[in-house]
Amino acid sequence: MNKVIRPIHYLGSKLRVLEVIVKQIDKISEKKLKVLDLFSGSTVVSQALADSGHQVTSNDVMGYSQSFAIATLGIGRCLENDILEKVRATLFTEYKNNKLHSFFNDIIELESSCIANQNGLELLNLIESGPKIWSKQVRNQSLLTAYKNLKTLEGFTAFETPILVTSFYGGTYFGYKQATEIDNLRFTIEKCANAGTISPWAKSAALTALLSAASLAAFTPGKHFAQYHKVTGKIDTKFHEKRILADRKVNILDEFNKALKIIFSRKNDGNHVALNFSMEELSQNLGEGSFDVIYADPPYTAQQYSRFYHIPEVINSYEVPKLQIIKGEVTSGLYGIDRFKSRFSSKKEAPEAFKDLASLALSKNADLLLSYSGNINGNSGNGRMITLEELTSILESFFQSVEVIQLDLLYRQFNSNALAVNDRGDREYMIHCKIC
Ligand SMILES: C[S@@+](CC[C@H](N)C(=O)[O-])C[C@H]1O[C@@H](n2cnc3c(N)ncnc32)[C@H](O)[C@@H]1O
Repeated sequence: MNKVIRPIHYLGSKLRVLEVIVKQIDKISEKKLKVLDLFSGSTVVSQALADSGHQVTSNDVMGYSQSFAIATLGIGRCLENDILEKVRATLFTEYKNNKLHSFFNDIIELESSCIANQNGLELLNLIESGPKIWSKQVRNQSLLTAYKNLKTLEGFTAFETPILVTSFYGGTYFGYKQATEIDNLRFTIEKCANAGTISPWAKSAALTALLSAASLAAFTPGKHFAQYHKVTGKIDTKFHEKRILADRKVNILDEFNKALKIIFSRKNDGNHVALNFSMEELSQNLGEGSFDVIYADPPYTAQQYSRFYHIPEVINSYEVPKLQIIKGEVTSGLYGIDRFKSRFSSKKEAPEAFKDLASLALSKNADLLLSYSGNINGNSGNGRMITLEELTSILESFFQSVEVIQLDLLYRQFNSNALAVNDRGDREYMIHCKIC
């Protein structure tokens, strides 16, 4: 049996309720279906559907999600013998030959001695004192010149000056050693893909493995990238000392290797597709074909995924971000300015966005299966951009039949133990809209 992979810690991932989603889709027809997973995120739903024999089109506005989908659905994969060993050998030979990071040798040495001596406090101090492209304290002239070169590439890829991750996020989100390893691997993956020594599928597999390693190393609450742990002004830093020691010890190369092996071990079958469009752009880019079902798991809160996962996006594209500046300072999360703003994460815009989603499903002659998560205080809590009642009333104006299913109840029909769904207190629903 294939194991579904969640490549990075992902807010709202449907990993815990995959079985119910797949069973609901299986109930629609005896046949295997053409399914569009429109907001695929970590791609766990796309994988589970593909593993049950459905033909999946996975889409998300975030570019990393497309890399995950290509990798985990095996899109363009050729099943050569020993391919994992060949790809590993190619990547690691190239990796060892790259000498990209002499700028950071001193700080890496200092950091490594802090880790060896279990000195979490000094590692916390490096957050403030270490070199950063956005800090005014950098004295080293050659590093300043490298930073300047990098800034001229804003909006473009940084493969000419591959110190992007270290310059922007070294010492904060990642340790310096970790960040240089991420840069070096990212550079290596691109170089091998351009030279044709690894296939496009292997490139996505390697990117997915790299993002997986980066997600494990992140010194952040919840392993997302909204902001790194802040310790300035804290009297008791014990928790953060322990945390930073544990996170900085994560070995990027080892984790990359482990993740690569897991991705390569997935068995792939079927003719799947991975897209990278916003829902708003999708209708012009889907062509004439129809779908049997659109599965939709859009955001329901004000949290913009482009803010929580801006660093995976930067690593995936390797484009130099233009940092947002407020009152002369970079933001606490080091966000770039050109981030996608989802209408689903705005109370004002969400109702229209859901109407567009319903129209898209109708235009594709597809049933719409929506996931909805309400909070523990009921489904109309303030945290949600739209209430379940508002949403169903919109959907009823488009579809002949709209059925709301509470997931923990449904889960009980399939499993004797319903706790897996409800253990965090959120209420999960599925809304099945049928065209006839
Ligand atoms: C709740 S998450 C999906 C989680 C996913 N089902 C999983 O199990 O990992 C919502 C996703 O919608 C994407 N998104 C938000 N607005 C979008 C839009 N207008 N078009 C396409 N994707 C969008 C986000 O990037 C995010 O990955």
